[in-house]
Amino acid sequence: MIYISRRETFAASHRIFNPALSDEENETLYGTCANKNGHGHNYALEVVVKGEIDPKTGYVLDLKDLKRVMKERVVDRLDHKNLNLDVDFLRDTIPTSENIAVAVWRELKDALPSGELHSVKLYETEKNYVEYRGE
Ligand code: NI
Repeated sequence: MIYISRRETFAASHRIFNPALSDEENETLYGTCANKNGHGHNYALEVVVKGEIDPKTGYVLDLKDLKRVMKERVVDRLDHKNLNLDVDFLRDTIPTSENIAVAVWRELKDALPSGELHSVKLYETEKNYVEYRGE
């Protein structure tokens, strides 16, 4: 078993709030992340795929294909978007890094031409990231 990975970046805005809570409760819970008009991040997404090396190609999965799948299924749908409003696969979720990572996993899981999705890591800042492994 060998692991390959690809990193892509995108910029997006969001507001972290729970519509079921009052403005005061949201502010207590989320602080400036709940600011009414939102804020932006430069995100980085790292996807790891595992599998056996195909003896014919020497690849688990051609990284060009991983790049294409990541862009088509996820990055192009998130880049320069408002994550609260514009992204169908994030509808009805609070767009935290945790929820975005899980949603990205679901978008990619069955879209890989070969190999198996191992992990999705989403950096919201250089210092903060979340990682999801599908369980
Ligand atoms: Ni934020």
